[in-house]
Amino acid sequence: MANTFLTPKMIISGQNALSDSANELSKMGKKAFIVTDTTMLKLGNLAKLTNILDQNKTAYTIFAEVNFEPDDVIVIKGANLYKENNCDHLIALGGGSPIDTAKAISVLLSSDDPLSSYMGKIIDINRPALAAIPTTAGTGSEATKFTIINDTASKVKMLLTGPCLIPDLAIIDPIFTSTAPKSVTSHTGIDALCHAVESYTSRKSQPLSDSFALSAISRIFNNLKKCYENGNDIEARIQMSLAALEAGISFNNSSVTIVHGMSRPMGALFHVPHGLSNAMLLEECMNYAVEGAYDRFAQIARHLNLTASSDDKQAAHIFLDKLSELLNDLHVPTMSEYGIDKEEYFNNIDKMAHDAYASGSPSNTIREVSVEDMVELYKKIYR
Ligand SMILES: [Fe+2]
Repeated sequence: MANTFLTPKMIISGQNALSDSANELSKMGKKAFIVTDTTMLKLGNLAKLTNILDQNKTAYTIFAEVNFEPDDVIVIKGANLYKENNCDHLIALGGGSPIDTAKAISVLLSSDDPLSSYMGKIIDINRPALAAIPTTAGTGSEATKFTIINDTASKVKMLLTGPCLIPDLAIIDPIFTSTAPKSVTSHTGIDALCHAVESYTSRKSQPLSDSFALSAISRIFNNLKKCYENGNDIEARIQMSLAALEAGISFNNSSVTIVHGMSRPMGALFHVPHGLSNAMLLEECMNYAVEGAYDRFAQIARHLNLTASSDDKQAAHIFLDKLSELLNDLHVPTMSEYGIDKEEYFNNIDKMAHDAYASGSPSNTIREVSVEDMVELYKKIYR
């Protein structure tokens, strides 16, 4: 069977990417709706964008309210503001949350149906032009057909998908990621690592997604610790920005698996930031997933030049040991350190395992994953 491979129409990356995008931004429309958060405002990152729009004589409305992982309420508010201000295109500036919000706003602008009605369907709408400017090296949302929105009524993180959600223009400028604090660098970097490893070890992997995944994994192993230890290491920041993009392109065309499947319910119920819940899950989930996929994990070890062993099982475990070492170096807090109450957590394990299963992601893992397996894994990761 043939494979389909999707990417943004245009990617502008590297130093000065934002300023070099002025011409492309000017083609997007007459009045931009900027979706961002107050941190971008305070750090001066928003001004870097509005300066360019001012020079282009493009009008804009600023919606700087996405200060948490987005839910249906903030998306409705954004869509209404867009209409009231007669905007004609969207620019998302920030981490995954503003980018996901902008995508979801574009859906509401094109239809009166609630976002929850799109769960489990392929979204196919004509939306306004959309540019995405990531300021963390992690989510890869600038390159994906997915948006994750909390449904406030059901307390479920909705995974909404459709090729039309891939931004038209992705601007990857390392100037933004250099402002990310240590914990954000660590968690978002691990999120990108999850995208790449899950994508490579997914049942839906394909040759082109494999190329992007392996390249991302190399860049992450060579640069994430450097960024974490020295946020001003610009070369390492550039490499991580590219890695996050590659990982996003990769899982956009294959899929994520068990880590992301189990991570979303933790975010929905305990408000653990996405990258952090992935980080808490990654090691145990990969130790589980390796059985039945030794060859794929072994290929990662060989690609990283960790071993020349032709014994798949041995090589796969060499990669997992290296992964454990990296996670240790990045000081991921445990759940109890993060403040999740043990009793409340254990009382919700059944719901989380069922919600994870229903999302469909765990079944992309090569090893069969049952609800009961995830119940055991959720128990195991509480420390
Ligand atoms: Fe992710």
